[in-house]
Amino acid sequence: MSSSAAATAAPGSLATSLVLARDVSKTFGQRKALDGVSVSVACGEMVALIGPSGSGKSTLLRSITGLQSIDGGKGTISVFGQTVQSNGRVAGTVRATRSRLGMIFQQFNLVGRLSLFSNVMLGALGRLPGWRGALGLWPSADKTRAMQALHRVGVSDYAAQRANTLSGGQQQRGAIARALVQGAEAILADEPVASLDPVSARKVMELLVELNKRDGLGVIVTLHQVDYAIRYCDRVVALKAGKVVYDGPSTGLDTARLIDIYGPEFEDAFWETKA
Ligand SMILES: Nc1ncnc2c1ncn2[C@@H]1O[C@H](COP(=O)(O)OP(=O)(O)O)[C@@H](O)[C@H]1O
Ligand SMILES: [Mg+2]
Repeated sequence: MSSSAAATAAPGSLATSLVLARDVSKTFGQRKALDGVSVSVACGEMVALIGPSGSGKSTLLRSITGLQSIDGGKGTISVFGQTVQSNGRVAGTVRATRSRLGMIFQQFNLVGRLSLFSNVMLGALGRLPGWRGALGLWPSADKTRAMQALHRVGVSDYAAQRANTLSGGQQQRGAIARALVQGAEAILADEPVASLDPVSARKVMELLVELNKRDGLGVIVTLHQVDYAIRYCDRVVALKAGKVVYDGPSTGLDTARLIDIYGPEFEDAFWETKA
């Protein structure tokens, strides 16, 4: 299919699929981190992936990016309609597929001794011959793009500052700017707000919502704070012991369901966070 045909494809066709995971399992030693997970996310959706610690959220995200292989057998994962993994094998085209995904992690993953600006410019590296980036010979169009991205996420004042001197919230917004410069069509974020204070966390979540609603970027975000999932995401997929135990609107997450996902001790914790 030509790229123009893909761009104009009808809703519901393969071209509008962000992630299609079918019967995915992943075993570490004796432990099944993922146990027959099937989930489908369309381009342009914003989905929270929740579940207790150890339920398989990070394993699922890593498997989607092809950074980790899944068990052999019938499990398959495709991203943007391109196979990432099947029968325990990561596809040879995975790098090209991955270049369309912006990845955000809990620990910011910026290069601490580089300026925020240089970190954001690293997002353009995939499009440049390596030596140019290494020598700092960035095309001016990319420099403009990087400054626009920093402005967009609200940290352009800190462009020249070393990344390791910035607050967690500023670094996380820098990581999002880097994904924008990369030209990411979707963002996969693993606990992006877990290390942030509540105000910074809210700003980062609002930014992800804005990129989703205004720019049409797909967002899959793992969160251990259920209240963030409910407040910012229309759809929630919940994992428990490697299985999908809920997949539906966040409004459907009533107390009974949350107790089912997190166990009985959850009730107190949930109402505490709402207070
Ligand atoms: N590289 C690994 N080696 C061994 N066990 C792992 C590895 N990665 C994850 N696990 C195990 O898989 C399960 C799911 O982990 P993870 O996906 O990190 O959960 P979550 O992100 O929901 O906290 C856990 O029991 C974890 O200990
Ligand atoms: Mg995790």
